[in-house]
Amino acid sequence: MNNRNPLRGKTALITGATGGIGAATVRLLIDYGVHVVIAARNPDKFKSLLEEVTKTAKQKVKDSLSQKQVENSLEFIKADLSSIEDIKNCALQFKEKYNHLDILINNVGGFFTKRNITRDGYELTFVLNYLCAFILTNLLLPSLKNSKNAHIINIASIEQEHGKIFYDDLNGEKHYFGLRAYSQSKLALVMFTRQLSEMLKESSIYVNAVHPGIVKTNIAQDTFRLQSLLYRLLKYTIAITPEKAAENIVSTLVDRRLKNITGACIKKRKLGKFNPISNDKEECKKLWNISVELGKLPESFKI
Ligand SMILES: NC(=O)c1ccc[n+]([C@@H]2O[C@H](COP(=O)([O-])OP(=O)(O)OC[C@H]3O[C@@H](n4cnc5c(N)ncnc54)[C@H](OP(=O)(O)O)[C@@H]3O)[C@@H](O)[C@H]2O)c1
Repeated sequence: MNNRNPLRGKTALITGATGGIGAATVRLLIDYGVHVVIAARNPDKFKSLLEEVTKTAKQKVKDSLSQKQVENSLEFIKADLSSIEDIKNCALQFKEKYNHLDILINNVGGFFTKRNITRDGYELTFVLNYLCAFILTNLLLPSLKNSKNAHIINIASIEQEHGKIFYDDLNGEKHYFGLRAYSQSKLALVMFTRQLSEMLKESSIYVNAVHPGIVKTNIAQDTFRLQSLLYRLLKYTIAITPEKAAENIVSTLVDRRLKNITGACIKKRKLGKFNPISNDKEECKKLWNISVELGKLPESFKI
């Protein structure tokens, strides 16, 4: 990386990044000289990641970043991101320490073949993959607005293209199927991306949904049901490494063809397809306002 590294000295917050694609993205951002705050639930996993990143830095000490600088470049906010209270506390803790945020990566997510209920009584996929990003981003908007040039990256999936929002059954009470819940949550994330980019079009905040690729990680490991088995088959055939996925994500911040784009779905570093539902402004507003209620945010967040 040369002196024109556009990310050096920036501050990033990334969710659920103690493993998988998130952890690989953290390693890459650290290499770029970004100060990274990880919001995740497992302090031991954070400690291991910090040790690993510091050890790698030791080997690279001849580079401009010293080992101490690397240690200081990585921070942890403990949060169970399926809990509304923890998501809100995470935003508060961040704001207490930093007055601006340059990069927000809403990475946390999961695929569950069995229906799980969160502390707040919601279906887990919907909260982890979507509602968390909705609440956290909304609460951190003032910090993002304080950055000269901020980026929000919502880690979506090509599954959004096949999704549908089941307004009468967002919680999957009447019917639950892992893939349906996953596609719904990722479509919701894309609708949020579209609506937010529209609202921020006069600002210097760019917001995009990024499909990282089919990636060899621990996602979809919860059971041996058919859906998980299919995923594992993909994992051992066409899937890419988390490092490659991280490069796809970070390219959105550094690639001159992508870094000034907003409101897009980016796939393999190119503009990807939207689910047509996300082009419907009324649908996007409807979901937004329902999400304000589900996220127990003040009425003033409604549009
Ligand atoms: N892998 C793929 O092929 C693929 C494809 C398209 C999109 N994606 C998306 O990429 C993102 C990352 O997925 P991944 O493949 O890296 O999955 P992963 O290996 O399962 O990693 C998920 C990360 O989220 C954390 N997490 C899970 N539940 C949490 C909670 N309640 N609170 C805080 N952190 C929590 C996990 O931490 P713990 O270790 O504590 O559980 C882990 O670090 C997701 O949004 C996923 O939908 C993945």
